[in-house]
Amino acid sequence: MCGIVAYSGVRAASPILLQGLRKLEYRGYDSAGIAIHDGAKIQIFKQEGKVSNLVDTLGDYKTDPTHLNAHAGIAHTRWATHGPPTTKNAHPHPAGEGGRIALVHNGIIENYRGLKARLEADGRVFLSDTDSEVLAQLVDSYYDGNLFEALSSALKEVEGTFGVACMCEDEPGKLLVARRGSPIVIGLGDGETIVASDASAIIKHTRQAIYLDDNDVAVIEGDQVDIRTLDAVPVQRDLASIDWSADAAEKGGFEHYMLKEIYEQPEAIRNAIRGRVNLDRGTAVLSGLGLSPRELVQFQRLLIVGCGTSLNAGLVGEYAVEDFAAMLGEVEQAAEFRYRNPIVGSKDLVVAISQSGETADTLAAVREAIDKGSMVAGLVNVVGSTIAREAGRGIYLHAGPEISVASTKAFTCQVSVLLLVALKLARGRRMSREEGLRISQEVLRVPELVQQVIDTNDAIAKVAEAFTDYEHMFYIGRGYMFPVALEGALKIKEISYIHAEAYNAAELKHGPIALLDENMPVVALMNKGPGQEKTVGNVEECRARKAPVLGVITEGDEEARAACDFTIEIPACPHYTATIVATVALQLFSYHVARLRGCSIDQPRNLAKSVTVE
Ligand code: G6P
Repeated sequence: MCGIVAYSGVRAASPILLQGLRKLEYRGYDSAGIAIHDGAKIQIFKQEGKVSNLVDTLGDYKTDPTHLNAHAGIAHTRWATHGPPTTKNAHPHPAGEGGRIALVHNGIIENYRGLKARLEADGRVFLSDTDSEVLAQLVDSYYDGNLFEALSSALKEVEGTFGVACMCEDEPGKLLVARRGSPIVIGLGDGETIVASDASAIIKHTRQAIYLDDNDVAVIEGDQVDIRTLDAVPVQRDLASIDWSADAAEKGGFEHYMLKEIYEQPEAIRNAIRGRVNLDRGTAVLSGLGLSPRELVQFQRLLIVGCGTSLNAGLVGEYAVEDFAAMLGEVEQAAEFRYRNPIVGSKDLVVAISQSGETADTLAAVREAIDKGSMVAGLVNVVGSTIAREAGRGIYLHAGPEISVASTKAFTCQVSVLLLVALKLARGRRMSREEGLRISQEVLRVPELVQQVIDTNDAIAKVAEAFTDYEHMFYIGRGYMFPVALEGALKIKEISYIHAEAYNAAELKHGPIALLDENMPVVALMNKGPGQEKTVGNVEECRARKAPVLGVITEGDEEARAACDFTIEIPACPHYTATIVATVALQLFSYHVARLRGCSIDQPRNLAKSVTVE
């Protein structure tokens, strides 16, 4: 995700940039850096770790003349995507003779490999592993005395997303910023301009702002802002007034990080699947696995390990690999796996799922599988984390930093990528290109379907009002929708402290039904798909015992609606992608129940975001 701040104006830039970085640290905190132009040259300072580490390396920037004389600068706090979180990979990236260009970037340059090869062939040497440095060098390669022309020429060649800020030694006081897909807001001050990835970094200075549109490039000097298209055509953008409180701004205007992260899911899933679907060949492109179709076909079993929400995502993977690839799939709670001398070996592909990449039990399971001679791949969100490194191969989720303890966007990205893993395994076996194409297209639809669910947030909030006073709940589903029931129950437990259990809908009769009465609501996954009519039958049994029923149903399914007391509708889609779409509906439901109960949503009692102990 990363955070960008830039400043040009009458005041010393460094304190403003550092204060802005602190506000944006939620966007990434594995390294930070600033570049300042002191009127003669550009100086870059960067450091691994949090912004506080950077401040320590700067010494007394509040009295140091280097900093006091610098009235323009750019800054960045990083959430690694390409290259581990080290000082050399931190932004700003210098380029050109004597580092005449400095650039910070948020987003992913998808065609960076080709661009890098071309620049290297021209004799350029790269100092980092990042895609962002490729952009910096590309800008420099076009620089001929006009930074606007150099940046716009470079951006025309770039595929992917960017929010970018750069400056040039030869053009003191001038900042160039641009966006495509990653946010840039320009704050207009008195004799100064402050640019940032979101308003939280600027509201201390001004509330007058301009939000750039995709492919806008702004040339900024002091309080002068000139916005143009990539073809240098001047454009006008509306002036907006920011009325957030400073606290709300940190969360991008959302009341909680959890809600913000739920809302980020369409974009997060897009990032997770971007470049990983080949529509021509109806298959997935998972180069991080480092395994050819010929190698993949040797595996007899896909064994998935994880904990918590990641374990629930793994269950969807098990269903998908059996469904798509007719291959044995199995999921193991990581702690169970490590302690029971598992039967695992060279015929197993072991996939370790972890948002943080640091969960102790999952890490131990990875080590155990490696020791037993299995091929291990990580499916991890945090780049450079221990599991990602020790697994040695894998697929990054690119979900962006997840701050709320209750996991939301990591789950939906994990499932999206697992569907692609199952597709890849299936295409190497019996699945036809046509079938692969159909599944690929369904996966590509997911961000839009998730957005449709998010758009019904108000209706879900209304439904939640009826469930705030219960102390217990059951969640039921069948097949693919069973892991969704598990994740739904986990979410409501974690943040609202309502005791919830999930069952396969068929299992209800074998005991749990004894607990049903008017005080035990049932949340039923009843969207159209295999086994739905049976789940509807189970719901009738629940209502006959006076249990209030909330059905997650397919839009417009009147029969299913008639069987429920309350409903949440989701768009029609196959069950394998409905695992994602329905989960988002249940995340919002849990969120609103917890909010109405006055719970501490982002930091629930007793929980931790990353469990690095057994
Ligand atoms: C903790 C968190 C959960 C998370 C689990 C696994 O229990 O509270 O939200 O699902 O750890 O974390 P991981 O980082 O390995 O996905």
